Amino acid sequence: MKTINIGIIGGGLMGREMASAFARWCALTDVSVQPELVAVADLNPDVLSWFDIIPSCTQKVTDYHALLANPEIDVVYAAVPHNLHEKIYLDVLNAGKDLFAEKPFGIDLPTAQRIVEKINESGCFVRCSSEMPFFPGAQRALEVARSGEVGRVLEVVSGFHHSSDLDPTKAANWKRLNATCGQGGVLNDLGMHACHLPLRLGWKPTRLFAQLQKGYPLRPDGKGGTTPCDTWDNAHLNTWTNIDAEEVPLRLEMKRLAPGATNTWFIEILGTDGGVRFSTAEPKTLHLFERGKEQYWKRTDLGFGTPFKAVTGGIFEPGFPDVIQQMWAAFLMEREGLLEDRFGCATPEEAVATHEIFAAALESQQSGTVVPL
Ligand SMILES: NC(=O)c1ccc[n+]([C@@H]2O[C@H](COP(=O)([O-])OP(=O)(O)OC[C@H]3O[C@@H](n4cnc5c(N)ncnc54)[C@H](O)[C@@H]3O)[C@@H](O)[C@H]2O)c1
Repeated sequence: MKTINIGIIGGGLMGREMASAFARWCALTDVSVQPELVAVADLNPDVLSWFDIIPSCTQKVTDYHALLANPEIDVVYAAVPHNLHEKIYLDVLNAGKDLFAEKPFGIDLPTAQRIVEKINESGCFVRCSSEMPFFPGAQRALEVARSGEVGRVLEVVSGFHHSSDLDPTKAANWKRLNATCGQGGVLNDLGMHACHLPLRLGWKPTRLFAQLQKGYPLRPDGKGGTTPCDTWDNAHLNTWTNIDAEEVPLRLEMKRLAPGATNTWFIEILGTDGGVRFSTAEPKTLHLFERGKEQYWKRTDLGFGTPFKAVTGGIFEPGFPDVIQQMWAAFLMEREGLLEDRFGCATPEEAVATHEIFAAALESQQSGTVVPL
């Protein structure tokens, strides 16, 4: 096992999730690299003290520049509010470190393009976090789509729903403010999840019509007062894409106001001869459509058929921490040139493509028209 030293900038929700994935790396049985968390930077000392439970994480700093100056660190994972992506990603690249970036990869399209220019200049290895395609059901949906067995594709729906914003008493955070989340709002927050598989299949929208909705305009600020919330909360992107020289409707959905949903990622691909449906609401279950004399939706439980093998029994169901770990395995193995034919993490080019979609969606919402990409 080759050890790769990791530094985390931003030890909040995602920083801690990644740290826990490294801590149970022994679950994976077919990787030849292992991450070791050696440093964390966060402005909040309480966040830093959580990392005391990880013995290898000996550098805990409030100024991330000190982490970047540490010659031991090979890879930096950065999970900070979107308005900080550009500055911090460029600083990581200037320090000569490889980068596992968080989505949306910059606050808007020009920012994402500048980050890619810097990556190309630096030669550093960079990928963007998007874990949901590592669910076995998502991988099977990808396989089915690539096999051609669905016949002529009639329509595709890909989305990510949660309901975190339904409760008006929930305090605002940086994700509810355009200044920190970006004008894209929910597009920036959840859009990569919805776009990743369609983009990987080469199904980039050619034009789109967007319907965006806002949430509650005021929320508690967590200090006894209220604060305005101005981000888009729900997005329906009715797009067209080209598949096998046919124009096909592709609907991309991102919602923070989806009654009853908790972190539900889903994809549905329907064709003339077959179809496939997968949702993380049923994490081990795959639905396949078959057209014969009669038509069937078949349902099967896939179990733990993740891209990288694990000690976990094949009949057990996978969850969010598992796909986070699978995504890291893909990042680290690809960085070593050992990914082979397994699914790779979202590329910087795919991240820019998501921003092209978000920019067109904002324009469509404003103009009320179909916008070409
Ligand atoms: N892949 C996913 O499923 C997923 C899920 C949630 C969030 N995200 C992404 O992860 C990123 C972070 O989101 P989060 O939910 O973890 O946010 P969070 O608010 O929980 O954590 C962000 C952390 O960054 C720290 N921070 C802010 N400014 C800093 C600075 N200058 N230097 C060092 N630390 C600083 C904050 O103190 C906080 O602890 C965002 O880009 C978000 O879109 C991805």
